Formats: sequence, structure tokens, C-alpha cells
Amino acid sequence: MSRTSKTAPSPLDDRAREVVDRLHAQNRHQFARSIIPLVREMVKAKFGTGNWDSTQTDSGKEMLADKMVALDPEKAALCHLLCRSLRARTVVEIGTSFGVSTIYLAAAVRDVAGEDATTGPPGLVIGTEHEPGKVEIAERNLADAGVDDHAEILAGDLLETLPPRLAALADQDRPVDFVLMDIWIPMALPALEILIPHLRPGALVVCDNVVSGASDYAGYLDRVRNSDDFVSVTVPGQGGTEISMKV
Ligand SMILES: C[S@@+](CC[C@H](N)C(=O)[O-])C[C@H]1O[C@@H](n2cnc3c(N)ncnc32)[C@H](O)[C@@H]1O
Repeated sequence: MSRTSKTAPSPLDDRAREVVDRLHAQNRHQFARSIIPLVREMVKAKFGTGNWDSTQTDSGKEMLADKMVALDPEKAALCHLLCRSLRARTVVEIGTSFGVSTIYLAAAVRDVAGEDATTGPPGLVIGTEHEPGKVEIAERNLADAGVDDHAEILAGDLLETLPPRLAALADQDRPVDFVLMDIWIPMALPALEILIPHLRPGALVVCDNVVSGASDYAGYLDRVRNSDDFVSVTVPGQGGTEISMKV
């Protein structure tokens, strides 16, 4: 009798899967080890700044500087599938960290370009990360996974690095097909505003943890739910995911 596993198999090839399996395990281990100090930071942030956001205190920033905080495997696989389905060739990732989600996205644009080499440019994921140590690790992980030809990481604050890169894409008539929004929450709305003029109609923006972080995401959620620019859906479970389509 065949046994059915609880979740679908990974959409990645063996080489990339080996890398992400290792990184997902490392992420779980890091999280388990840092949960108590993290909660302590959140309480400190609540008293200091009025909300629970530990990414905004100096000690919280220091603590998170080497943490992966990666997307769950199922959400990363969902992003991979959405990119494949959209036939995405140009993807922007807001928040790269160690490159876990980047590997899923880069594999997707590589597969799209491989399946239909005659139309459109080669697939590219543009990642963004301001911690230099994380950029180095992400670049190594992308190479180990065999997808580094399809990804580049903008090192530095995305408010500075992203606008000129998007302008260069616009010069090539290359709009953005898909965005993964997985960043410290206060950066989400400013990043979205930078991206909006570059999204093609039908482009998807996937944002993580919008239910668990609903109050901190209020401005972002208002922008995608209550404007003529987007049609949006909230997928509950595992912190909640907002999927917004550019009209
Ligand atoms: C949640 S993690 C990204 C996880 C990644 N998407 C994954 O699934 O592996 C968010 C990352 O955004 C980075 N970050 C925060 N603010 C930033 C900024 N202003 N510019 C660039 N990167 C930033 C953090 O250093 C952190 O590594």
C-alpha cells in the first residue's frame, strides 16, 4: 500500500532541494534556540516603542543580524509555483537573508525560461539584503543550489539599491512579474510604493505573516486591499499570506 505524505513533494530538483532541506533544518534550529531571547526583545520593544516589533530596537537588530528567518517550505514552494504559472521572468524579492526563498524563485524563472526559450529574456530574480554577512551566505547557497545564473542580490538598504535597478529594468522594457515581500514589517509599504510603477498588469505580490502581524501591516494592507491598483486575497494559516494582483 502506498503511503501519502502530508504535503506535496518539493518542486525543486535534487541539487537545489538538498541545499534548501539543509537550510530549512538550520532555520528551525536557529528559531528554537532564539525564541526565548526573541520574546524578551519583543517585550522590550513593546515598552520602548509601543509595539512588539523587535526589528526596530538596537538590540533586536543586533540579534537578528545573523538569523535566517526563512519562509516555510510550503510557502516557498507556493511562490515557485505561482512564478511558473505566471511564466515569470523578472522577479523581485524584498528580503533575501540566506537565500532560501531566492533559491525557489530562481529555480522557477530558470525553469520558465528553459520551457520556452524563444520568447522573452532569461529569467532573473533580484534579491535585496542589507546585512553583508547574509549576502555572502546567500550567494554561496545560490551557487550550491545551481541557480546563481538566475539571481543577483542588491547589497545594502533596498530604499537605495532598488530604485536604480528597477529604472535599469524599465529602460530594457522589462516589467516585474512577481514580488515576494518578506522583510521587516516597516519596510513593506515603502518597498511596495517603489515597486508599483514597475509591476506589469497581472503581477502578483506575495506578503508573509499579514495575519499574525496585522496591526503592524495596517498601512500595507490598506494599500493592497483598498485601492484601484490591486485585487487582494488573504490566505489564512501559518501567520497568514496576502496575495495581491496588480490590476
Ligand atoms: C524575513 S528575512 C527574509 C527571508 C528570506 N525571504 C527567506 O525566505 O529566506 C528579512 C530580511 O530582510 C533584511 N532587511 C531588513 N531591512 C532591510 C532593508 N532596509 N534593506 C535590505 N534588506 C533588509 C533582513 O536583514 C532580513 O535578512
